[in-house]
Amino acid sequence: MMLAKGQEEPRLLTLDDGQGVPVRLIQPEDASALQRLHSRCSKETVYLRFFGPMEELSDEKAQYFAHVDGTDRFALVALDPAQQGEIIAVARFDREVGTDQAEYSALVEDKWQGCGLGQHLTQQLLDEARDRGIRYFYGVVMSRNTGMLKLLRGLDLPERERKEKGAKYVEVEIQPEYS
Ligand SMILES: CC(C)(COP(=O)(O)OP(=O)(O)OC[C@H]1O[C@@H](n2cnc3c(N)ncnc32)[C@H](O)[C@@H]1OP(=O)(O)O)[C@@H](O)C(=O)NCCC(=O)NCCS
Repeated sequence: MMLAKGQEEPRLLTLDDGQGVPVRLIQPEDASALQRLHSRCSKETVYLRFFGPMEELSDEKAQYFAHVDGTDRFALVALDPAQQGEIIAVARFDREVGTDQAEYSALVEDKWQGCGLGQHLTQQLLDEARDRGIRYFYGVVMSRNTGMLKLLRGLDLPERERKEKGAKYVEVEIQPEYS
């Protein structure tokens, strides 16, 4: 597994209010913290992320999400500054095999939403994706998901959207200069 150098240890992300939130690459040992994060999230947050209800994150899914290869599958986690064993947000990308496109997704725990964490974590993820030759991020976003649509538009990158049965397929060109 190729890990980004220096990312095994958390580095501080500064929120707009000045608060420092530790961020690091996801690790296999994070599976149970992902399950705890899921159980603290509201039904609406889970629905928007997974496009349906999901009472709990199964062991199988938690293991899958916690294992990345650091190149084609990559995820950053933000930790509760007061309790660093708890994950409060995740942003990830999964490359379509052999292409420069990757599916992007993010989840921020309800009580941390709306304070810039999703935006900042995504900016860090974009840098990591660019370093790995990804040119496009895409995501399927529910039409009512104002927060995610705002976050994507706020990246200020070339973006295309099309409607897909109550959802929007959004593609963002993250590396316009890449050739
Ligand atoms: C979508 C999500 C990742 C955004 O993360 P966040 O930390 O809450 O968002 P930020 O604080 O970084 O805000 C990003 C922008 O969205 C806006 N925003 C955030 N939540 C919003 C909401 N519920 N309604 C309207 N706008 C919202 C912010 O004002 C900000 O816009 P601005 O830069 O113009 O001020 C997070 O809210 C979340 O996990 N939602 C539930 C799961 C989900 O929808 N995942 C994505 C599936 S595709």
